[in-house]
Amino acid sequence: MAAGTARDDDTPGLAKPVDDVPAGSLAALRREARSCRRCPLWRQATQTVFGAGPATARMLLVGEQPGNQEDLEGLPFVGPAGNLLREVLEQAGIDVATLYLTNTVKHFKFERRGKVRLHKRASASEQTACRPWLAAELARVRPDVVVALGAMAAQTLFGSGFRVTVERGKWQSIGARTCALATWHPSAILRMRSPERDTARAQLLADLKKAAKGLDT
Ligand code: URA
Repeated sequence: MAAGTARDDDTPGLAKPVDDVPAGSLAALRREARSCRRCPLWRQATQTVFGAGPATARMLLVGEQPGNQEDLEGLPFVGPAGNLLREVLEQAGIDVATLYLTNTVKHFKFERRGKVRLHKRASASEQTACRPWLAAELARVRPDVVVALGAMAAQTLFGSGFRVTVERGKWQSIGARTCALATWHPSAILRMRSPERDTARAQLLADLKKAAKGLDT
């Protein structure tokens, strides 16, 4: 699809349509995103953390934004939240190598405190600036099932009124042939204390199993 072309009905899309969806293969998009200047986050980040996984993936997981480790390695979900996510995926019987993993925002945002880089949430305008990349990933991968991890991803996909606490684990439609659901972000689970933490982890597991089952229907 050329940039600026309206998406066809089959293409999964975001809650607010993106009219400048970048064109090209995933590899070309990844290359182009390396020099993204759509918002100021590139200035302090080490590199763009684009999505990773097969272009033929039937399931796509969207997180919020890369953390410290992702920024250093250039890959999504390789830090503590990623470790929890991979653990739960394994428990759900989902092979992470079959998934396309990405984020709503592709650069690490942080505040320096001495030697530590403390995560800061991307602003609404930074999230908006990054939307064309997620729209392009969805258009190239055309997954059957999308899992939104956390509120930022869920609201980007389903609208700003979406509440993960209320609608977690319920099917949503984001295109003629793409179903989606939202669940807890693994970082949110890591911040909880037991027993809430155990409950949320069990819900993440149940939601991932439901998403995998959605591939069979
Ligand atoms: N949190 C996210 O949302 N994405 C990552 O890649 C890592 C942590």
